[in-house]
Amino acid sequence: MKANNRGKSSNNLLHPNQPTFIYDINKPWEEVIKSEPIWLSQKFPPRPKLYCFLGHTLISPVVIAAGPASGKIWTDFYFKMGYGAVIQKTMRTAPRSSNLAPNIAIVKASKPIARNSLGQTMHATMNQDEYPKFQSITNSFGNPSPLLSTWANELKEQKKGVNPGQLLGCSVTASIGENSSCSVIFGENPPISQVLEVATDLLTAASVAVTSGADFVELNLACPNVMENTEESEMFQNAKLIQYTLEEFKKRFPNIPIGFKFGLYKDKDQMKRVFAQAGDNLDYVSGINALAMPVEAEDGKDILPGRKKSGVCGRVIKDIALEHIEWASQIREEEGLKYEILGGGGILESEDVDKFLNLGANAVQVATVALTNPLFAHQYSLHTQYQSHAN
Ligand SMILES: Cc1cc2nc3c(=O)[nH]c(=O)nc-3n(C[C@H](O)[C@H](O)[C@H](O)COP(=O)(O)O)c2cc1C
Repeated sequence: MKANNRGKSSNNLLHPNQPTFIYDINKPWEEVIKSEPIWLSQKFPPRPKLYCFLGHTLISPVVIAAGPASGKIWTDFYFKMGYGAVIQKTMRTAPRSSNLAPNIAIVKASKPIARNSLGQTMHATMNQDEYPKFQSITNSFGNPSPLLSTWANELKEQKKGVNPGQLLGCSVTASIGENSSCSVIFGENPPISQVLEVATDLLTAASVAVTSGADFVELNLACPNVMENTEESEMFQNAKLIQYTLEEFKKRFPNIPIGFKFGLYKDKDQMKRVFAQAGDNLDYVSGINALAMPVEAEDGKDILPGRKKSGVCGRVIKDIALEHIEWASQIREEEGLKYEILGGGGILESEDVDKFLNLGANAVQVATVALTNPLFAHQYSLHTQYQSHAN
């Protein structure tokens, strides 16, 4: 039997005259083991590439961002799909219902959002056939959460779906406002007592996440979809809050990585002030979150019921996302900081992953593409194998 009936995928590794057995069946065993296997091409498959993130070895640098996966059914699914990590969608210490459905619509924008188009109304449709053309969506769930004890118990079950080379993260946020566990309203420069109250809520949620099995914790400080209290979406700008929360977290869990999700910074200096003040307790920064934009149906009516603004993500935010990742990478270098970068926003192709990694991201995160093409991590691993063959 000759090589060519052994499957197309390995043809480039197979010599055309490769015999049926790599073992010379006419020779005694003692002799066979003294010589090399008969492998005429002398070519070997590439070793699967491994990645390092937060001190762990991962099978893929592609992470499911906080959002697409909530609960065991969904985290198990993405672990089976071969993602390097899956981050449980943001949870709270107090229960909160989801905003009214539908919570996702397709954004019809052909140009990426630029800084000077921030705040301009975008148009969206529920027609899914339009998605492939635009590859952008708006989403607005409002960080719903079951009771703390419910998600804590489920997280323990979710942990059982993690395979070697994968991590389970958990995103948490603070609840601010009348009907929540915190009664804090953040102003421009909030008094320290208010900062402490929010930090305490974040710490409670983060501690529960860790004791329930999360390998790392992400503080979601930039949700663009909180309707009652928009200050909740600006916490990533509050250096005092971040510094204090991280310090207290590290006293309790020195070995568990913690990071926070950021939104739109005004400029690099604003980002630098926050990241530098967080110091070495900050294990990673995560971003960018969806951008809050006015979004309406083409006839001017609400596309997501009751919401004039919602978080926009997918292709339209890639330019702004890349700008933020570049800043984060430069700041790390300039300030001698040690945080890692979980970069994302608008990643839709394998080449986008390479772009984020080349800019300094240690791993990347995907949400929009994970909802339409869950094979994305697998496809990225084939892409890297192809690259190593090509080199
Ligand atoms: C369906 C959906 C739900 C999301 N929920 C959360 C969330 O709970 N917490 C969070 O930090 N980000 C959430 N996000 C934002 C994503 O984590 C991500 O930052 C953003 O979508 C940009 O990535 P993308 O362009 O790959 O979608 C959500 C995004 C989507 C699409």
